[in-house]
Amino acid sequence: MFRTFWRFRRSVGPYRAPLAIGGALVLVVAATDILTPWPLKVVVDNVLRGNPLSGVIGQLFGSLPGSGEDAILTAAVVLLVALVLVNAAADYLSSYVLDGIGQRVMADLREDVFLHLQRQSLLYHERQRIGDLMTRITSDVAQVQDMLVTSLSVLIPNVTMLVGIVVVMFVVDPEFALIALSVAPALFVVIFISTRRIKRASKVARRKESDIASVASETLSAIQVVQAYTGEERHERRFHEHNVERLRAGLDAVRLQAALTPAIDVITAIGTGIVLWVGAHRVMSGAMSLGLLLVFLAYLSQLYRPMRNLSKLAWIISRGQAAADRLQEVLTVDARVVERRHAIAAPRFSGAIEFRNVGFGYAPEREVLHAISLRIDPGDRIAIAGATGAGKSTLVSLIPRFYDPQQGAVLVDGVDVRDYKLESLRRQIALVLQDSILFHGSIRDNIAYGAPNASPDDLYAAAEAAYVAEFVDELPDGYDTIVSERGSTLSGGQRQRIAIARALVRNAPIVILDEPTSGLDALSERYVLRGLDRLMEGRTVIVIAHRTSTLRRADRISVMVDRRIVETGSHDELIGQASAYQRLNVQLTSE
Ligand SMILES: Nc1ncnc2c1ncn2[C@@H]1O[C@H](COP(=O)(O)OP(=O)(O)OP(=O)(O)O)[C@@H](O)[C@H]1O
Ligand SMILES: [Mg+2]
Repeated sequence: MFRTFWRFRRSVGPYRAPLAIGGALVLVVAATDILTPWPLKVVVDNVLRGNPLSGVIGQLFGSLPGSGEDAILTAAVVLLVALVLVNAAADYLSSYVLDGIGQRVMADLREDVFLHLQRQSLLYHERQRIGDLMTRITSDVAQVQDMLVTSLSVLIPNVTMLVGIVVVMFVVDPEFALIALSVAPALFVVIFISTRRIKRASKVARRKESDIASVASETLSAIQVVQAYTGEERHERRFHEHNVERLRAGLDAVRLQAALTPAIDVITAIGTGIVLWVGAHRVMSGAMSLGLLLVFLAYLSQLYRPMRNLSKLAWIISRGQAAADRLQEVLTVDARVVERRHAIAAPRFSGAIEFRNVGFGYAPEREVLHAISLRIDPGDRIAIAGATGAGKSTLVSLIPRFYDPQQGAVLVDGVDVRDYKLESLRRQIALVLQDSILFHGSIRDNIAYGAPNASPDDLYAAAEAAYVAEFVDELPDGYDTIVSERGSTLSGGQRQRIAIARALVRNAPIVILDEPTSGLDALSERYVLRGLDRLMEGRTVIVIAHRTSTLRRADRISVMVDRRIVETGSHDELIGQASAYQRLNVQLTSE
């Protein structure tokens, strides 16, 4: 519990002032709660029984104007009402302040988690399940919030009151206080054991919830394949398994929780019974006043109320702790692409790229690139050809530092890319990927994603150049047409052209195209290539391609076979000889 708080101390830090106010209000609530039974004692002992006033109470009531039992009764009643009013006001204000802090801390935390995840490297993200990360950002944060809010506004006031009551009981009558608290160890044991088991169940529940989200997100993002292969039943089975386990864990927790409250009731009833029995004997023998017995009885019920509350909180708190652990897991991983300590902001590149003896593998034991050396001059257009899996996409992904090579270095304008500030490097690279990914939003927004500050004129010019204008005019809403996340309202070629416009508008000195025309028909390909020609003007371009039509447009072609670049030359040079390019080309054209 306190470990969890300690963990979030940094997030709570900015709210120190409201936290102090809330804490002070909690003390007021506890104090008034503790004082509330005393007017009753005065009424019973000093008014009804007519005992003389004495001690602190005597001084307090003795200084009142007027005397006699009527005056004391009136004063006691006024005091009681006043205490309750102050208590209610402080209670309202403290909940308001503390709940507010809980909400704000969690809003901050949610953003921290999102920010943190966004910055992690591709190597990290490739190993994560989206559904799992989604659960962490949304429901794990929500459950930590539940915990924090209930802790702040229920747990802390209750614990404060509990401590206060115990202290007052010991001050007033230590021996009787011990008797009243005789059942406390039993309570403690019961609460301890069941919260531990509830916590275990809620851990399982949280894990299963993220499995459920993962299956759902995997299924829904591949729904077409699922339906094409009639895999619905298999997915349903996987979903069902996780769901049943989640249900079982939830029921376990509910059962434990349900048993806990009555168990506490029984134990506290025994405690009250003992106090009543011993107390009644003491009152009869005159060792204790009736009023004081009533005060103790009131305290006992106040003492047990927080305990009952705490037991009800067990589920919320253990669920929150399990969720906090999961957030902690995410936040402690730091797999960002790190900048070197003296990294500089890249100046505008002229666009010279060099691979210097580069070796790379996604996993250490499996090399994907081996001793690659390649120089590209500013303004050059170079194509990379090679069979599937040869390592073409991997090679180009080293330039924007999606990955870093294990051997050698990638240089831009003669400087290792690791010596540039990451953002200044990536900002100067325009990328068109193998499958073009669009965001939910209008076509205009998707193009503007390449350069959020571009003027409308720049956007339209890019759209013209990428032949987006060709099909946009036919859409009912033109550039305001909303495309879905997977761009499924557009054809493959249309999406590709939007992706090219997005790269165009970026106006970057380095352009990387990963099979920009794969999956297009001859006509669309021609459109896209014409768009590309404009995109490539005056820039350094690396284009990965299988088709001769694209390869021909390059100044030089590097051919990759089995982790290496085996030859480099123009289309005409390479096609004439018995080269790897020739073999590749024959394979491609004879398909
Ligand atoms: N994220 C990854 N994690 C682990 N291995 C990967 C990853 N991406 C690619 N690989 C492996 O690296 C090798 C090269 O892949 P790469 O994507 O670079 O090939 P490619 O030449 O672009 O192929 P294609 O023409 O099919 O796009 C392949 O053997 C592949 O299995
Ligand atoms: Mg590829």
